[in-house]
Amino acid sequence: MNVLLLGSGGREHALAWKIAQSPLLNNLFIAPGNAGTASVGVNLNIDILNFDTLKKIVIEKEIELVIPGPEEPLVRGIYDYFHGDKDLSAVAILGPSRMAANLEGSKDFAKQFMAKYNIPTAGYGVFDKNTIEKGVNFLRSLRAPYVLKADGLAAGKGVLIEHSIEEAVTALKEMVIGEKFGAASRKVVIEEFLSGVELSVFVLTDGKSYILLPEAKDYKRVGEGDTGPNTGGMGAVSPVPFASKAFMEKVRKQIIEPTLDGLKKEKLEYRGFIFFGLMNCDGIPKVIEYNVRMGDPETEVVIPRIKSDILPLLLAAAKGGFNGTTLEIDERPAITVMLVSGGYPGEYGKGKVIHGLNKTRDSIVLHAGTAAGNGNIVTNGGRVLAVTSLRNTMQEALDASYNNLKEIDFENKYYRRDIGKDLL
Ligand code: AMP
Ligand code: GLY
Repeated sequence: MNVLLLGSGGREHALAWKIAQSPLLNNLFIAPGNAGTASVGVNLNIDILNFDTLKKIVIEKEIELVIPGPEEPLVRGIYDYFHGDKDLSAVAILGPSRMAANLEGSKDFAKQFMAKYNIPTAGYGVFDKNTIEKGVNFLRSLRAPYVLKADGLAAGKGVLIEHSIEEAVTALKEMVIGEKFGAASRKVVIEEFLSGVELSVFVLTDGKSYILLPEAKDYKRVGEGDTGPNTGGMGAVSPVPFASKAFMEKVRKQIIEPTLDGLKKEKLEYRGFIFFGLMNCDGIPKVIEYNVRMGDPETEVVIPRIKSDILPLLLAAAKGGFNGTTLEIDERPAITVMLVSGGYPGEYGKGKVIHGLNKTRDSIVLHAGTAAGNGNIVTNGGRVLAVTSLRNTMQEALDASYNNLKEIDFENKYYRRDIGKDLL
């Protein structure tokens, strides 16, 4: 089978690394990919938001399965484009329809969906420029800190958490009137603040049933001890100790199954990954957000824990029929630590030569922001590499990743030294 994977980060290298091990695979293409994906497949330098170009490539390369990694092609309707084109009727595409992708593409849509299907989440209100005074009053009715979210996609930056009412009111005005996040923040969701510990839960659905994937914990802040600005994620671990059997049973019954029932009742087609961003509020799971894709860096620990061949599973999901397929999970813990460019998530340099990649041992080095340049591998993003280790204990996995991180070098490299330490 020929497969086309869309995206260029650590998530995509992890997926590509796994798919490349499948005996069912003939050719794997990654668009646009990075220097890591080039070692397990063929990179194609094309615009993944240009669906006409994708169609041409899919026909030319005889692709059977298309796997969008990031949310943007999904929110823009790649599923509907493929399903609506008779030249592409033999091609399976993994993901939600454009309407279903609104679970990530519109926070307002997601909140209404959760309210309708009694899915536990933070209390909220939605405001725009015509209702801004009501928004200010709503903020005043809440207790600090205040959570404000741009309704639409804002490259992961659309959530603000303000500590005083004055800052919250200013932020609301900047978002709605000043269009701080462009059109995405013309509507703003204001939420009750949830305290607790976060957890990322993933399922793969064929539109009828679902398979639960290993859960993970992401370390979002740039600084050690969870300080400093939010990033895309500085590391991840799986499994998560507090995600006990009893807790995960609540997640299934109160969150996953009502979500899938809701999708069916609303006739929202969905054949792909669903990412539930959850808060464990004293043993009660609540949804912080839905994503219509896998998490990054969570994928870098979830995928290495899957023992089964995932290609038949991904194809079955995309074709709408699992037919009893199951998943074999490695019980051992996995950890990944992100090596980033100094300055990230603010300004940072690119094009720095990466040394020592061939000195790492017994870890999986997944590329996030890398490129090939003049015979070298160079940095090409804020998050550069994710070093994943799978061991009998979390401590051994941590030691393995940290030992290998010391071997890799580039100008101004940075990583958190405390990933997973809170869980030991
Ligand atoms: P998101 O972009 O929706 O993932 O939000 C970014 C981060 O903001 C989340 O990972 C949480 O840490 C935090 N967050 C979002 N909503 C809430 C909430 N209602 N209460 C507390 N923290 C939140
Ligand atoms: N690591 C969080 C995300 O992928 O959104």
